Amino acid sequence: MITIKSQREIELMREAGAIVAMTLDMLETEIKSGMTTKQLDQLAEEFIRDHQAVPSFLNYAPKGDPGVTPYPATLCVSINEEVVHGVPSAKRVIAEGDIVSVDVGAYKGGYHGDAARTFLLGTIDEKVQQLVDVTRECLDRGIAMAVAGNRLHDISAAIEDHARSFRFSVIENMVGHGIGSELHEDPPVPNYGRKGTGVVLREGMTLAIEPMIALGRSRRAVSKRGAWVAVTEDGKPSAHFEHTIVVRPAKAEVLTRSLLHAEEN
Ligand code: MF3
Ligand code: CO
Repeated sequence: MITIKSQREIELMREAGAIVAMTLDMLETEIKSGMTTKQLDQLAEEFIRDHQAVPSFLNYAPKGDPGVTPYPATLCVSINEEVVHGVPSAKRVIAEGDIVSVDVGAYKGGYHGDAARTFLLGTIDEKVQQLVDVTRECLDRGIAMAVAGNRLHDISAAIEDHARSFRFSVIENMVGHGIGSELHEDPPVPNYGRKGTGVVLREGMTLAIEPMIALGRSRRAVSKRGAWVAVTEDGKPSAHFEHTIVVRPAKAEVLTRSLLHAEEN
């Protein structure tokens, strides 16, 4: 069931969303090669708790999947061929040339915010730089379609078309989602699909739109049994950007907008 949020609920989601955005801004400033992903995680957890919020992902257990243990951290830090759900570790050192996707959720006042950005460290291969730029543009184009009266898969098609025009691969088995009092609500928001299909978007729907795009040919992110991290099948790098948005009549409202990049998302 897709819920329409009230003004009051959206105000609370704005607060959770702002904490998520500020956390990513802080991490963007702090991230350096030589740090461990665990250090990033600790910075994020402390920051979120200092803002009277709770990390959304910590202890998250997917419904109906008893095979996997509850998520053990605040962040997902997914490096290079890791698509999503990289678990921070004191053994994983961030290196020059890495592409690092950082995903964070915060829960406050009964509501969640969820967003992700991909950071590039040091000198980066031109193709990887293009992958990251295009994935960010995919998110922008998806958000541009998230207006009342459009169909859900208008978002999906805008993302897919942009990625494919660069011959990048869309990860199909990981999707965006509705969000609110639960981290994952209806509807699933795929990053591929046919324009003009899917439910009609209505003002007050809140969605986490999150393109995951890869170099190479992999259309799936795969995990070893019992493990959280999901990687491309061919080992090629992937990028991930995510925002929590509210569907509005003319232009979606982005709840996790960066203050560092005030001119963009
Ligand atoms: N943004 C990701 C998602 O919506 C992060 C989830 S991590 C988890 O699926 F631990 F909560 F699963
Ligand atoms: Co999400």
